[in-house]
Amino acid sequence: MSALTKRLGRYAHVPYAAPRPVTEGQVTRLIGLTLEAVGLRVALGDYCLVEVAPGQQAEAEVVGFAGGRIYLMPLHSVEGLSPGARVTPRVGASLVPVGMNLLGRVIDGIGRPLDGKGPLQAEQMVSLAGEVINPLNRHPIEQTLDVGVRAINGLLAVGRGQRLGLFAGSGVGKSVLLGMMTRFTEAEITVVGLIGERGREVREFIEHSLGPEGMARSVVVASPADDSPLMRLRAAQLSTRIAEYFRAQGKNVLLLMDSLTRYAQAQREIALAVGEPPATKGYPPSVFAKLPKLVERAGNGETGGGSITAFYTVLTEGDDQQDPVADSARAILDGHVVLSRDLAEQGHYPAIDIEASISRAMPQIVDQTHLQFALQLKRSWARYRQNEDLIAVGAYARGSDPETDRAIDLMPALRAYLQQGMNEPMPMKRSIQELAMIMQAPPDNKQQAGQGQPAGQLRRQP
Ligand SMILES: Nc1ncnc2c1ncn2[C@@H]1O[C@H](COP(=O)(O)OP(=O)(O)OP(=O)(O)O)[C@@H](O)[C@H]1O
Ligand SMILES: [Mg+2]
Repeated sequence: MSALTKRLGRYAHVPYAAPRPVTEGQVTRLIGLTLEAVGLRVALGDYCLVEVAPGQQAEAEVVGFAGGRIYLMPLHSVEGLSPGARVTPRVGASLVPVGMNLLGRVIDGIGRPLDGKGPLQAEQMVSLAGEVINPLNRHPIEQTLDVGVRAINGLLAVGRGQRLGLFAGSGVGKSVLLGMMTRFTEAEITVVGLIGERGREVREFIEHSLGPEGMARSVVVASPADDSPLMRLRAAQLSTRIAEYFRAQGKNVLLLMDSLTRYAQAQREIALAVGEPPATKGYPPSVFAKLPKLVERAGNGETGGGSITAFYTVLTEGDDQQDPVADSARAILDGHVVLSRDLAEQGHYPAIDIEASISRAMPQIVDQTHLQFALQLKRSWARYRQNEDLIAVGAYARGSDPETDRAIDLMPALRAYLQQGMNEPMPMKRSIQELAMIMQAPPDNKQQAGQGQPAGQLRRQP
């Protein structure tokens, strides 16, 4: 062995990755949203720059390949693109801005400000991918997070690090409820991802639902429906990444994503465009692999660190609970809050259907008395609903079933408990006290004798 080989042998264990040669390719085809290019040596997930006009470049991500062809999905519009356009790999990973200065700001899927308040003063640029937490090192869910909404605090208590779905059709009060949680929660920071909604709604949500008070401790990442599907995916990932950053700083973060369905639809557009076959209701299989990947990033950090408690809205059009995205979301989330069109039509807001909703963490995080009261309230409500038609037509005879009698007496108080004005915060402590007051009230004897008012004295004064 020569002296040189001997000396070099010391470095035999040092991994050596040859830098990828810089290549240049050409666009050969544009089908729908996807660009096809040849002559590039790039990897899946890499970013490229496509020359759409002289001196003007658009970013595009490598989303697939076949033979020598590379499929690219642009982040922005590629108006003006011509055949044979130059494509060059972009060096460096995708970095996104994070930091306390993001509070009060509205940004797009790649971290550019949308609010006209000048450039972002990011404290740090980090990779979009985030860090993977070993599931065994994650702190378990054991402490409640006050979300400031009575029906949730009282009956569907949410734990720090819990991930829930907010299942609802259109126009039944999702945005208002998310806005209430942002303004009333005890979480130090809220990150709101507005994915694939109408552009007009983004402004409405910021001005009306959040207001200046909610905005001050929030970061909003918005990507409306007319953004490219890749941009919408990026916005969901960026909001999660920003929440992860604050969690790493030891903060309790509330992450609100509206909506997970639009995130799934963006992934569907991309997957179909690169030729993945559709499976369940037009959704290719990769969609159902992407959902848990996103959702798993929320939750608790390692013991001693912060937490990300997350709500993902899931659209159930025509109240179709069999929607594949809704099905998949139900399986990967730790509970769901269902909003009911029936209740909304009666003017019962927030229109939370307490029979269909469940918080899987609640039994482990609240004390036994609270849990028992919540169960009793749910039972009374369900009992009333079962007999509602009979009661309404006067066909129910008092005295035939003591539980139904009690449910009838409690009903006005239960309705008042479950409803809440959009500007009325309700801390956890008071939510529990009021619940206890209703459930501990003695049976109304006058009522049982068939006279007097229903349990009106329990009605909470707004
Ligand atoms: N807590 C509340 N108190 C009073 N009214 C409410 C409350 N929550 C919702 N509403 C009413 O319901 C309407 C629709 O609510 P919202 O915009 O939140 O629905 P959405 O589910 O987000 O709709 P979309 O599907 O269009 O996004 C509001 O304009 C408001 O009038
Ligand atoms: Mg809305």
